[in-house]
Amino acid sequence: MTSTLTTPRLSLQTLTIADDTIAIRSLDWDRDRFDIEFGLQNGTTYNSYLIFGDKIALVDTSHAKFRSLYLEELQKQVDLSQLDYLIISHTEPDHSGLVKDVLQLAPQVTVVGTKVALQFLQDLVHTKFSQQVVKNGDQIDLGKGHILQFVNAPNLHWPDTMMTYDHRTGVLFTCDIFGMHYCDSSVFDENLAAILPDYRFYYECLMAPNARSVLSAMKRMDELPPVKIVANGHGPLLKYNLQELTENYRTWSQAQAKHETNVVIFYVSDYGYSDRLSQAIARGVGKTGVALEMRDLRTTDLQEIRELVEQASGVVFPTPPQSLPAVQTAVATILASLQPKQAVGIFESFGGEEEAIDLLANRCKDLGVTLGFPLLRIKTAPSQTTYQMCEEAGTDLGQLLTRKQNIQQMKALDNDLDKAMGRIAGGLYIVTAKKGEMTSAMVASWVSQASFKPLGITIAVAKDRAIEALMQVGDYFVLNILEEGNYSHLLRHFLKRFAPGADRFAGVKTQPSGKGIPILTEALAYVECQVVSRMDAHDHWIVYAVAEDGKVSKPDALTATHHRKVGNHY
Ligand code: FEO
Repeated sequence: MTSTLTTPRLSLQTLTIADDTIAIRSLDWDRDRFDIEFGLQNGTTYNSYLIFGDKIALVDTSHAKFRSLYLEELQKQVDLSQLDYLIISHTEPDHSGLVKDVLQLAPQVTVVGTKVALQFLQDLVHTKFSQQVVKNGDQIDLGKGHILQFVNAPNLHWPDTMMTYDHRTGVLFTCDIFGMHYCDSSVFDENLAAILPDYRFYYECLMAPNARSVLSAMKRMDELPPVKIVANGHGPLLKYNLQELTENYRTWSQAQAKHETNVVIFYVSDYGYSDRLSQAIARGVGKTGVALEMRDLRTTDLQEIRELVEQASGVVFPTPPQSLPAVQTAVATILASLQPKQAVGIFESFGGEEEAIDLLANRCKDLGVTLGFPLLRIKTAPSQTTYQMCEEAGTDLGQLLTRKQNIQQMKALDNDLDKAMGRIAGGLYIVTAKKGEMTSAMVASWVSQASFKPLGITIAVAKDRAIEALMQVGDYFVLNILEEGNYSHLLRHFLKRFAPGADRFAGVKTQPSGKGIPILTEALAYVECQVVSRMDAHDHWIVYAVAEDGKVSKPDALTATHHRKVGNHY
């Protein structure tokens, strides 16, 4: 059974995905920003499911923007007076936005979730409802063989997250886990090449900061009978490439979790923009290859906070709200557990009730800890540039923690092979990019033409470069080619260490390209390109891009070249 209802750029898709199991997918074709996942350019979907045993269960709902479309379709598919269970995988509004409406239409329903999810939900819907708290391994029998088993997945990416496995069909309902922001009419993952960049980017934004929690959740998944379909909350469901895509989470998380240097990032769920800002910081830290843990100060007990802080190299925490004494105690516990050799970062959440950030910073200084990035003062509702600033702050902290180790490695590797590698020469370029309100630039040398038809190039971009976030598949950038004998001022400018969020172009002459990207007026030539694909090369991304426009300003001048002595650093 398949049907499609359409309104301009919001549509619904309903179909049977397994025995007695229906997916209702809310297709949000134009959503171009998901807070921190600002690479989003292929829209997204919010997937909700119905399971019909002798009893009937609904797994998650949809975003409030789909209120009339979704509720109408849901009532076509099920008589809501007959609905027995509403399973909440976690309580973010893109899946729980219509819970209150469903409760009004089906007041008899029992809401099923983790203890934390049901607490959060109470605050969200402000109404009494029948509820059942489930723990890892608990089961609910719907009849007709549909025994639902719950798998706890805390911190993926919210503290209250769980998955649900149906023993009759082998469908695993995972909500955000194994999802992607990718909207098209394909229900399943048959087009792996098309979805992989978004799947990976989504993992990096939402899951990589919790790599250890991903591995714990996957261990619990391993105890289940075979999973035949991953019924996720965003994007196409996983069926054809299920094994490869789920195992990617394991491989990526193992690589992230094995690093010795680690940072713990605390946030306050459901307060101001704390969770989103902390995720942006986490993404920045993660780019430097250190291990990460994220914890909600509302739901983590004081003993765990103490242990996490004591074994961390870096600690990031928000200014606690004065209205939440338990969170204030949690922050006091963080301060009491800090040791002088650690680096810290502090951020405001724009919740309106925070303690003064300077007081906290002074207490950190008194304790002898280093500030890993400037205080993040958030005075307005976060914009893309705020998230970019937070990401860059996180990268600064990660780089501070890994600098010593990297210098040691550089020295240790100064052998014949390194010297031979150093004889590979490159040109000198400045890559500039703009996406929405965000701009960035970096010096590049590992640039090469890669194809004739179409004209294409590759650029190696270190994973901890801020500009990397603006060079996702589909993004545009400009390659500014520097002139031999006339580049040192530009090089000096762009090699400077910029503060998080600082304007890279202040004091530099630029003009906009066709796509509005800054072209350096003093460059010898420029080429405007669109990113087609990215290859993972350990500490770099190899970005392949097709050239669409370009111009040379001095036809007789030569390109600047870059000669090095060793190959283990630039
Ligand atoms: Fe898709 Fe965490 O909500």
